[in-house]
Amino acid sequence: MDKSIRHSRRTHSGGLLNDCNVGEKVTLAGWVNRRRDHGGLIFIDLRDRNGVVQVAADPKNKEAFKIAEKIRDEYVLSVEGEVSLRPEGTENPNLPTGKIEVIASRISVLNVAKTPPFEIVDDLNVDENLRLKYRYLDIRRKPMLDSLKLRHQVVTTVRNFLNDYGFIEVETPFLTKSTPEGARDYLVPSRVHPDHFYALPQSPQLFKQILMVSGIERYYQLARCFRDEDLRADRQPEHTQIDMEMSFVEQDDILSLVEEMMKRVFESLGMNLEIPFERLNYDEAMEKYGSDKPDVRFGMELVDVSKIVINSGFKVFDNVIESGGVVKGINAKGCGKFSRSQIDVLTKFVSVYGAKGLAWIQVTEDGEIKSPISKFFSKETIDSITKTLDANSGDLLLFVADKKEIACESLGQLRLHLAKEMDLIDKTTYKFLWIVDFPMFEYDENEKRHKAHHHPFTSPNEKTISLLDKEPLFVKANAYDLVLNGVEVGGGSIRIHSQDLQRKIFSLLGLSEIDINEKFGFLIEAFQYGAPPHGGIAFGLDRLIMLLAKKDTIRDVMAFPKTQTATCPLTGAPDKVTDKQLRELHIRVK
Ligand code: AMO
Ligand code: AMP
Repeated sequence: MDKSIRHSRRTHSGGLLNDCNVGEKVTLAGWVNRRRDHGGLIFIDLRDRNGVVQVAADPKNKEAFKIAEKIRDEYVLSVEGEVSLRPEGTENPNLPTGKIEVIASRISVLNVAKTPPFEIVDDLNVDENLRLKYRYLDIRRKPMLDSLKLRHQVVTTVRNFLNDYGFIEVETPFLTKSTPEGARDYLVPSRVHPDHFYALPQSPQLFKQILMVSGIERYYQLARCFRDEDLRADRQPEHTQIDMEMSFVEQDDILSLVEEMMKRVFESLGMNLEIPFERLNYDEAMEKYGSDKPDVRFGMELVDVSKIVINSGFKVFDNVIESGGVVKGINAKGCGKFSRSQIDVLTKFVSVYGAKGLAWIQVTEDGEIKSPISKFFSKETIDSITKTLDANSGDLLLFVADKKEIACESLGQLRLHLAKEMDLIDKTTYKFLWIVDFPMFEYDENEKRHKAHHHPFTSPNEKTISLLDKEPLFVKANAYDLVLNGVEVGGGSIRIHSQDLQRKIFSLLGLSEIDINEKFGFLIEAFQYGAPPHGGIAFGLDRLIMLLAKKDTIRDVMAFPKTQTATCPLTGAPDKVTDKQLRELHIRVK
């Protein structure tokens, strides 16, 4: 008998019964999925977390039948009865329990239920806010339940894997200190210390590094992280990370351990995963895909045609190249029949990313060239363009001339857009990719200062470290991201473990000596007591599960997510609090 099912109120899970159970007397418990009156007999589809089984109430059993007549959808029932084969011709091949039914000898109502605001069905088409308000009903639906089961399974596999590899799970605080850099913090006022605030952690980054100084050597945590950011389909104000840190390791050690871990996760789900994963350096990713998280399930790579079109006489291209920009193109295979208005839509699309236009060359089905810009180019130039972009009959070549960043990003986004439109993505595959050799810094035009590309605790690559003072934007970091199907599912780095280098990086980021000591003094101090070389990584668990469950948003793999405006329709959070609470916290609301 399955330990997970049996207790005093039930002997079996109805959803797991099959023809092997025929003849057995069973006690089931669950919810009424549906009740059907069938000329005399009443059928109840009884649902538990494993599935649905048909219960039949015969008028000959007066007591059970009387109850069956009264029950409504979502009532909670206890049913005793005998498992029997369904009469021939009444089997349901779509249901795992479809060969059998339970002939009820006793039915009792454990609880009644109001009519739910939406049906408990797999394909539900209602406003998501309604689903979130009644999340407990939403989770009764199989797709939600399946997502949560999958999440549990992945977490279990990850924990077992990391335990096998000598990792120790350590919890780190939720009430901690606000530190600059990164996203906006969620703050918690202190009652005991007026004017002082805790911050909820954006990640356990500093604590996990300090645990390395403590000699933990291999740490992990399924860590909740809080970030007050604008929300998107793959971003929530609180998310869960599989957070890891290791001492005495180099980048390759971490990457290969992670590959093993992912392989184990996929195996636990009955899938094979080829390792090692492909690695692409950041510059190459930007060149080829216009993105540092490229979806490599399809091609349509960006190609630089500046050298081919230079000095052609087409002013737009010439001017851009002269002023240091580039002309990049993609081959939208099979889009050669696009109409002018369809191309106008694409032009509008790239303009969102700053592109000032979208030049195009169509190769018609007959192999002819149609284009508003072809008149500027010699036949040789056109041939060279079509050859470089591997253009054939029926293809559409699209070009953006601009500063490199704009040309790459706008075409990178267009590439993704077209792949979705043209259904080019094989949704059955999983393509992992490491992005390595990130730049150490990026320049923030608004704040007029350098910012850490990953975070300020990331170490610079030895080969470029000499550029720190003169050309910081050329310094590469020992940082890596794991990308799955175009989604950044993880990121990490080899850390700085010397106090001098850490101070230097902080100061390059514009922090004053006072700021450094105030905000990060504890870390710098810890580094003075024998900090081992260390590094780590963290995975967005919600994103990983979203991809494995083939959902479009992480909300569908979280039990109680927030809406796009960071509210919880179920509880009504965030909410007002009493004046007394505010007084105790020394807070006055404007
Ligand atoms: P990072 O900020 O890259 O790194 O986060 C790690 C991973 O967490 C996921 N993630 C999110 N998922 C859902 N909602 C969010 N708002 C959100 N923000 C991030 C992403 C991301 O790759 N401490 C470092 C890791 C390290 O260096 O070890 C960190 O937090 O999948
Ligand atoms: P124009 O000469 O301005 O009419 O432009 C001719 C073609 O070049 C049109 O299809 C424009 O969309 C395109 N175009 C204009 N500016 C750019 C640019 N920066 N990059 C790519 N195409 C451009």
